[in-house]
Amino acid sequence: MSDAKTYTLQDCVKKIEDIRQTFASDIAQLGGQLQPRAVEDLKVKFLGRKGLVTELMEALKSMPKEDKPGAGKVINELRQGLEKELEALKIKAEEGALDQHLNQHRLDVSLPVQVRRGQGSLHPVTLMRRILLTEFRRLGFTVYDGPEVDLDFYNFSALNFKDDHPARDMQDTFFIADRAKTILRTHTSNIQIHAMLHEKPPLRIVAPGRTYRCDSDLTHTPMFHQIEGFVVDRGIDMGDMKGVIDRFLKAVFGEDLETRLRPSFFPFVEPGAEFDLQCVACRGKGCRICKQTGWLEIGGLGMIHPNVFEAVGYSSEEYTGFAFGFGIDRMAMLRYKLSDLRQLFEGQQDFLGQFPTYP
Ligand code: DAH
Repeated sequence: MSDAKTYTLQDCVKKIEDIRQTFASDIAQLGGQLQPRAVEDLKVKFLGRKGLVTELMEALKSMPKEDKPGAGKVINELRQGLEKELEALKIKAEEGALDQHLNQHRLDVSLPVQVRRGQGSLHPVTLMRRILLTEFRRLGFTVYDGPEVDLDFYNFSALNFKDDHPARDMQDTFFIADRAKTILRTHTSNIQIHAMLHEKPPLRIVAPGRTYRCDSDLTHTPMFHQIEGFVVDRGIDMGDMKGVIDRFLKAVFGEDLETRLRPSFFPFVEPGAEFDLQCVACRGKGCRICKQTGWLEIGGLGMIHPNVFEAVGYSSEEYTGFAFGFGIDRMAMLRYKLSDLRQLFEGQQDFLGQFPTYP
């Protein structure tokens, strides 16, 4: 191309023919082993800044005026054709490279989840408890703790369970051998008594903790977690109770869900009720999880019985209050869509390490 003046349309067409042939033979040389890197090299050789096609376009400048439009057109066609082919080759090469990689590193989708060892994670019950406590703190509750091994007095008598009351049997109590009247608490309601004996009203307390009953199946484990809540002050009524439960459940599970109370019996409340939440899975339509009812049973609650106030020395004339209690594990099962409660307590790190860290 040193002698630009002699470069005519005919030369140009001939040159294009040469370039096409070079391109075809370069590809033939690459054979089946097409690497993305090789395609990139080809692109530089033909279309790069000093590439063959670019060189030809430079030569266009020095061609006779009448040949320029025709030559420009064929060069452009060449350029576009090569671009297209190179793009297709690039995709083919990348797919080939991926195949090769997958063949070398076999991917078995049936392997258990890979949990990064050495890096800890929070247990789903811990995550759930933190979510609940965050919400209760927002509602002005203080967090309280109480003993897991306790006297009958705190777990039963002071909560208005009479000595021969059948409700004691309902709770499959574990007794401590050779220790009179000492048990593993069957519910977190014992914390009501401990707290009321230590504090003066007004009280707004929540108390999470482990509880124990002799029970084991798909939805029961001998150790499980509950959270207790209670409010004591002058002039507390059932509207306050319903309001707190409703606000709290909506905050945790969604504002679109309704709550409801059903009359029930617990010795330490009067009136007593159980509270339900619209099913978190089907949002109330009816599904397998809520057994087609649209509702989930969450826990028990009621207005604190005057006998409980008498047992801790509060005046039941002056004060009223409400209490509620429910299972944290069941909440975690609903939130994380678990089907077997026992998985929570088997200590399998592959299972336990999968839960998203709060928040
Ligand atoms: N302690 C009850 C249980 O474990 C749950 C409960 C019911 C707690 C009513 C309460 C309440 O505070 O008012 O079954």
